[in-house]
Amino acid sequence: MSAFLIGAATSAHQTEGNNVFSDCWAMEHMKHSSFIEPSGIAADHYHHFEEDIALLAEAGCNAYRFSVEWARIEPEEGRFSEEAAAHYRAVAEACRRHGLEPVVTLHHFSSPVWLIQKGGWESDETPALFARYARYISERLGKINYLSTINEANMGEGIARAVQAFSASLQVGVDAEAFRARASEAAKENREVFGTPSPAVFLGARTARGNEIIKQAHRMARAAVREVLQGCKVGLTLSLHDVQAQKGGEALAAEEWQSEFCDWLPAVEGDDFIGVQNYTRKVFGKDGELPPPEGAERTQMGYEFYPEALEHVVRRVWHEARLPVLVTENGVAAKDDARRCTFIERALKGVLRCKQELPVLGYLHWSLLDNFEWQKGFQMQFGLVSVDRDTMARTPKESLSVLGRINKEFI
Ligand code: BGC
Repeated sequence: MSAFLIGAATSAHQTEGNNVFSDCWAMEHMKHSSFIEPSGIAADHYHHFEEDIALLAEAGCNAYRFSVEWARIEPEEGRFSEEAAAHYRAVAEACRRHGLEPVVTLHHFSSPVWLIQKGGWESDETPALFARYARYISERLGKINYLSTINEANMGEGIARAVQAFSASLQVGVDAEAFRARASEAAKENREVFGTPSPAVFLGARTARGNEIIKQAHRMARAAVREVLQGCKVGLTLSLHDVQAQKGGEALAAEEWQSEFCDWLPAVEGDDFIGVQNYTRKVFGKDGELPPPEGAERTQMGYEFYPEALEHVVRRVWHEARLPVLVTENGVAAKDDARRCTFIERALKGVLRCKQELPVLGYLHWSLLDNFEWQKGFQMQFGLVSVDRDTMARTPKESLSVLGRINKEFI
């Protein structure tokens, strides 16, 4: 097993292209889609993975996090694809051949359409179905030392809170009416594709029961993986802000951290590590979340540029969960790559300080490639490598060298 992991992450749906059996693909092609464009061939990573992995290795990194697409492995319920499984085995082998530790994610937001038609992430049947898929792919990947079951298990809880706040802010008027009309059209399309007006996709608002189903899916998949992949470290990943309070905002900040993190402690109990995914901070005042300070730099996503958030989160997570921490995502959407270089240097300085004192297993930057940023499409630039959208030609950015150099010189 490698020592400290330094590398980058991607997910299948965002990079591979033509993920035609997935719920995201279906949603992207609806007339009233919330996606600004479809993923199409994405970064065609399905065919370029060898080249992409080589770029990461040549830069001096030692780890690559990728996800397996359930909808490719099991395009119809109970029909498994040996061909798709062989593809992911080849990706893991390419990592090993290039001296990279493969870090596998079993579920990164997208799910098979059939699963959603059966009730998706609100159905009691899902944990067992997920565990069956987890076992199937674990038996076919070869030696894997690090695996996370579910990416950002807490995502739906965050979406539920955002939806609630949005609904409360919807005033009567032209905008509210237009929004409701559009929502009703979207509901019709959902019924046609998923058999229900409000499909329980992963990237949707979760109920309390849905969150319990996700926890159970994690536990059952973890048990299946451990049975097959002896010695593999298994965890799940969480989307975590550096939650801060100004005077009077302490209670709201505590509430936020409770739902982002503390609610998930029962799920990670018994895990081998916890995957931390952090992009910025959230600051609370007495009346709610505060906007970034006047004059603060913002990323393409609109977040405050604040790489120091990562160190704060890693420390807090370790102190409260007492589990080794693997930074499974951290990054910045920026057109100017010099900002990404600075972001990496500042974020990693903090991680290396943590490493002196706490069990930190590694740092995986989001993302290796400029890719499909879900609803926001291809306009966000998170990559260490740019991808020409017409030719699919790859161009490594300076930030990739910065990441590799830190590994070679400081670790
Ligand atoms: C997700 C990625 C996403 C990234 C940047 C994380 O929440 O895991 O899929 O691209 O953030 O927004």
